[in-house]
Amino acid sequence: MSYPFKISSEEDYRKAWNKSVKDPEGFWDGVASSFLWRKKWDSVLEWNFKDPDVKWFSGGKLNITENCLDRHLGLLGNQPALIWEPNDPEGHHRVLTYRDLYNKVIQFANVLKNNGVEKGDRVCIYMGMVPELAIAVLACARIGAVHSVIFGGFSAQSIADRLQDAQAKYIITCDGASRGAKEIPLKNVIDDALVQCRFVERVIVLTHTHTPVSMIKGRDVWWEDEIKKVETMGNPDCPAEEMDAEDPLFILYTSGSTGKPKGVVHTCGGYMVYTTYSFVNVFQYEPGDIHFCTADIGWITGHSYILYGPLGAGATTMMFEGIPTWPDAGRFWDIVDKYKVNILYTAPTAIRSLMGYGLGPIHGHKLDSLKVLGSVGEPINEEAWQWMHDNIGKGKCPIVDTWWQTETGGIMISNMAGITPAKPTYATLPLPGIQPVLVDEEGNEIEGNDVSGNLCIKHPWPSIIRTTYGDHERCRQTYFSTYKDMYFTGDGCYRDAEGNYRITGRVDDVLNVSGHRIGTAEVENAINMHAGVIESAIVGYPHDVKGQGIYAYVIYDHPHSGDENLTRQDITQTVTRIIGPIAKPDKIQFVSGLPKTRSGKIMRRILRKVAEGETENLGDTSTLLDPAVVEEIKKGRI
Ligand code: WTA
Repeated sequence: MSYPFKISSEEDYRKAWNKSVKDPEGFWDGVASSFLWRKKWDSVLEWNFKDPDVKWFSGGKLNITENCLDRHLGLLGNQPALIWEPNDPEGHHRVLTYRDLYNKVIQFANVLKNNGVEKGDRVCIYMGMVPELAIAVLACARIGAVHSVIFGGFSAQSIADRLQDAQAKYIITCDGASRGAKEIPLKNVIDDALVQCRFVERVIVLTHTHTPVSMIKGRDVWWEDEIKKVETMGNPDCPAEEMDAEDPLFILYTSGSTGKPKGVVHTCGGYMVYTTYSFVNVFQYEPGDIHFCTADIGWITGHSYILYGPLGAGATTMMFEGIPTWPDAGRFWDIVDKYKVNILYTAPTAIRSLMGYGLGPIHGHKLDSLKVLGSVGEPINEEAWQWMHDNIGKGKCPIVDTWWQTETGGIMISNMAGITPAKPTYATLPLPGIQPVLVDEEGNEIEGNDVSGNLCIKHPWPSIIRTTYGDHERCRQTYFSTYKDMYFTGDGCYRDAEGNYRITGRVDDVLNVSGHRIGTAEVENAINMHAGVIESAIVGYPHDVKGQGIYAYVIYDHPHSGDENLTRQDITQTVTRIIGPIAKPDKIQFVSGLPKTRSGKIMRRILRKVAEGETENLGDTSTLLDPAVVEEIKKGRI
């Protein structure tokens, strides 16, 4: 497969970027033309950021799976589309060619239809990292159902909230998932969630871990049985549903600064064009390369750069069920050598955790197939960058530091491997079509170089968030109301003398823990649900491996059995129940009061400083209602 839009030199990049700014519509019209459309669009872009209302490729008709599967069958039918490495290194890996994947998607799409799923219906997918997860996602897209994948680390309560928000009547899950030495009883978690969600009509359960599960008559069915029914039906075809470019493709929930996660909605046409375009260019994908993105499909990175981006490009994409440190810290390197991986796209937190094991686990590995390394999800610190560059890339692989968000759908700011220069800890330059701006608190654009500000984006790009499901006003308020005519990212950013961008972290109340976005308000709500808790405040603090850790200040009436440690564990349990293990606080400090202004606002700045270990320069505390609590908080620091 050839990519007419592939950028092949720095000069090429500059030209493409300039054209994309001068004539965005002409630029994206050209890129979109190399995809498969049932009907061409009437207009490339209609937009305003006031409502917001953004439409790309309006009037265009397509199905993303025809682009990811059908159109590759001729040339690439026998090429591997998906390679799956199981959690157990002794287990059987699986290779699905484009033809195999196509057949399985068709089959499962028919299963969905047999179970009553129709275009526009929301389908919740809660599975481990098994090939059937990819198949389920694509099968939804095939018939125009809107998938909403939920990460396996979320609790029953979180799932119930999401099911309710999306009004999803259908669920696809597994009996259990294997991650390292652990087994996660996914179906049990779903059963707990469904106690509150009587509107769910069907749960399709894949057998994977052979964990015993309850199956409710009339509601729960086995994946395998449903496949058999389709097989006996004969006709294996499932024509792709014709979708409008702006029909929703999926919902993915993400945390913001308020208590409730938002359902970010992406649509078919723009998302398809942008994920494949960015995949090919950032990683400089060459036909035949093996692309290994270590993210989970429960997050946007997995959606865009395990599934849609690579498959749109006819690439070979890998899926890994396990974790980087099991059975030992050489697992990634085993996989790289076993499959001769060419592109490794991972997260700084994984690198930092592997750094902790020293160079031993790398020894005995060749790693000579690697051409490109990538980083995503959080700022990468210089040590981790250098370690990856020297020890994994052996000094010869460019590292792409890719900045983007669930809401942006695809990579926004990044160097292009071997094409534009890398600069450690910098995401560097915007992709063609992306117009970043830095603004001050008043919303004035900060021009020139060697400046810092809040990062906004000026003009729409094809995979921009369209709405937050069921609550468009929330989308407007969160992203489009802070600064006029701009999309606000929530990130702070520095632009150096050469115009390279360096993301400095969130400027809102969102934490980034091991690359997972966690809203402080969400964690506070969960802690406050624990009996005995009167009030709490959450802040982030620097953590060697996780990037940020969660520090909780809690006002509690009396400890459980007089035991503070037991109480800490109780609180942790509550957070695990309400949100999931990913939001567990790392530290809990009991306090008798929180530093509040006279108007009752918690001064988080002070809490942040204390959590960071800074107890001297706390800034102005004169506006505090009771400055004495600060002394107590400083003394009690953990
Ligand atoms: C952060 C993940 C620095 C940032 C794709 C953003 C990064 C949030 C980078 C989005 C990077 C992501 N450098 N920070 N290369 N990539 N971030 O929605 O704070 O899970 O706003 O999307 O992660 O996280 P999300």
